[in-house]
Amino acid sequence: MPNLEKCLTIEDLMKLARRRVPRMFFDYADSGAYTEGTYRENSTDFAQIKLRQRVAVNLENRNLATTMLGQPVAMPVAIAPVGSTGLQSPNGEIKAARAAEAFGIPFTLSTMSINSIEQVAEGTTKPFWFQLYVMRDREFIHRLIDRAKAARCSALVLTMDLQILGQRHKDVRNGLRAPPPITPQFLFELATKPAWALGMLNAKSKTFGNIHGHVSDAVDLASLSKWTATQFDLTLNWKDIGWIKDRFGGPVVVKGVLDPEDAQLAVDNGADAIIVSNHGGRQLDGAPSSIRVLPEIVDAVGHKTEVLMDSGIRSGQDVLKALALGAKGTFVGRAMAFGLGAGGEAGVSRALTIIHKELDTTMALMGERDIRNIGAHNIYSNDLQRRQGY
Ligand code: GLV
Repeated sequence: MPNLEKCLTIEDLMKLARRRVPRMFFDYADSGAYTEGTYRENSTDFAQIKLRQRVAVNLENRNLATTMLGQPVAMPVAIAPVGSTGLQSPNGEIKAARAAEAFGIPFTLSTMSINSIEQVAEGTTKPFWFQLYVMRDREFIHRLIDRAKAARCSALVLTMDLQILGQRHKDVRNGLRAPPPITPQFLFELATKPAWALGMLNAKSKTFGNIHGHVSDAVDLASLSKWTATQFDLTLNWKDIGWIKDRFGGPVVVKGVLDPEDAQLAVDNGADAIIVSNHGGRQLDGAPSSIRVLPEIVDAVGHKTEVLMDSGIRSGQDVLKALALGAKGTFVGRAMAFGLGAGGEAGVSRALTIIHKELDTTMALMGERDIRNIGAHNIYSNDLQRRQGY
């Protein structure tokens, strides 16, 4: 087991994960669409926002706990849905969900997870959130929503920005498949990543657990993009929120909103919350970073609904910047995936501990004691907005 204590940043965990996870799966987590320009801007735009330092403030009894969707959270950070998480580490979704539960933050299971909804429910004791991709086979989607309900999932996260997969060149070059093809190159990788290979032998699932065996024409899940092209519903529209909400019976969060008009449409059609997201730069390359568009979306719908955000959060400082610009909470995807690749459940716990510590220290250095008080007064007037002339 690697010494996770030596990992002081999410970047450190990423470097460790790169050494321990077969390249095809590490690259899947670390990729963006096309030029990866939007993927990079998700980070560089955060770096431009400057935090306001205040001193000589009583910093005793600090509080990082708040709520997301009305549920108590130990910090305003949830685990984002990440496809194929169970290929970063054997039984990866169960491990990540357990780490999130122990930490007191929400875990969101992807439709495209390796462990199934039922396996994650069996491995945890508290409700988790379930992310839904709407596919053409509506019967299957009805059953999937019912399975999420039966597993006591406490929110449904409806992803609206992936009817078509944005091409990630690395995945095409690596011939990404789940399970992986047994080529000489992959066998060599297994020899150099023995802990991953041995663990995978006994994993509860090695392919998409929510789908395999549940959809008659998806027995062999070949390359992800080919399969997505045949299965994902190109006719998905705002009206679909209604029947999904009725069927699920709990809060439905619309994920993948980058435009104030779409935010308004999501709310008008019944979204209980929205997630400002460019899918971690994995879909529309050339789209702005989530943090850049967050303020105008908060202006448009923040008084009516909870605005959450993801894409680019790699530190507690990033979380504070998102809160200062009006987000009620944030999600981390790659930080979780890298933690998992670096050290399984303990690696995810380490990632969360790193972010929590950064959050606490940074908030204190800003002269704040309570995360719920973070707002526009904590940052310098936003350069990102000024440049855009919003
Ligand atoms: C799926 O959500 C992906 O981004 O690959």
